[in-house]
Amino acid sequence: MSEQTQNTNTDQVFIFDTTLRDGEQSPGATMTFEEKLQVAELLDDMGVDIIEAGFPIASNGDFEAVAEIARRSKNSVIAGLARAIPADIDRAAEAVRNANRGRIHTFVSTSPIHLAHQMRKTQDEVLEIVTKTVTQARNLIDDVEWSGMDATRTPMDFLAKCVEAAINAGATTINIPDTVGYAVPEEYYNMIKTLIETVPNADKAIFSTHCHNDLGLAVANSLAGVRAGARQVECTINGLGERAGNAALEEIVMAIKTRGDTMPYHTEIDSTHLARASKIVAAASNFNVQFNKAIVGKNAFAHESGIHQDGMLKNAETYEIMTPESVGIKATSLVMGKHSGRHAFKEKLKELGYELGDNAFQEAFQRFKELADRKKHVYDEDLVALVDDEMGSV
Ligand code: KIV
Ligand code: ZN
Repeated sequence: MSEQTQNTNTDQVFIFDTTLRDGEQSPGATMTFEEKLQVAELLDDMGVDIIEAGFPIASNGDFEAVAEIARRSKNSVIAGLARAIPADIDRAAEAVRNANRGRIHTFVSTSPIHLAHQMRKTQDEVLEIVTKTVTQARNLIDDVEWSGMDATRTPMDFLAKCVEAAINAGATTINIPDTVGYAVPEEYYNMIKTLIETVPNADKAIFSTHCHNDLGLAVANSLAGVRAGARQVECTINGLGERAGNAALEEIVMAIKTRGDTMPYHTEIDSTHLARASKIVAAASNFNVQFNKAIVGKNAFAHESGIHQDGMLKNAETYEIMTPESVGIKATSLVMGKHSGRHAFKEKLKELGYELGDNAFQEAFQRFKELADRKKHVYDEDLVALVDDEMGSV
């Protein structure tokens, strides 16, 4: 079969954002209709290729949100999720009908554990379901994605048969979910590569990753999938999602952008929207972003240690591998604390409008260190008070 497939003959990685579907499935992350529209508009503006706007059969509210997002969509493809059930597929088709470009995303479980305990179906029955449901979806819309739920715990030979059946029935995207976040990168790489290389007609579909973060490997697995030939990554803003979440969109985008030397791919995302997107999704979902979250956490571009602050003041590349501006953060922040050194202290005083002589500076620095030992957070006001006091005493 041809080496060049739909997957590997382009260096563009399509970003499929599922914040409004898998992200919203996070317990406690329910968003209002207006919040969903706001998030969708932002995703569309920042260049997300596909927005999974919801699960239309789940509720009338979800249907209305998907339909309205579809109506308002500008550039993004709008996808609606559907189980492998005819009524779900009809409902998803109806919801995305008014999109410039709509997609039905239908899925069925493939792993032995799901087949035995959840579906109570045989492999042959599942294969038949794949063919029937993808055919139904393709009769309603041109753009159909098929997912094998719990793919990473599915025997390769059966998964390959399901993928083949889905492609033959007209699926244009094949998604390989690591539903329970069980895979490790090498394994996920091999799985995607084997499917792309061995399934007949694999070149008729784009392969996609969908990785959950139960072992903290969602981004690493997604990137391994891309290296293996997948050209769509499913992810969410802030990594929001079921249990430990999904692969974080901002991490995928910036990893690809920053490490073009080892990952020769690109996305069409305007990364300067990332910080704002993170804030909007955090507020809408009520999920705070941890301070040390990669790319968008409060501390992602903050430095307290004296050695790091000194390096940063000399050349930002000493301790930053991307600029804060590139992700929409105004500037690096040098946080004053007990680990800070003279260089940063001097810069900080300059910023606050003080220039001290040598003796006064040494004295002020000494007092700042004492204060920082006593107080967790040293604010600008503390420094102003400290220096004013120092100047008054000389
Ligand atoms: O994790 C998963 O398997 C899913 C599917 C519905 C794609 O979210
Ligand atoms: Zn998922």
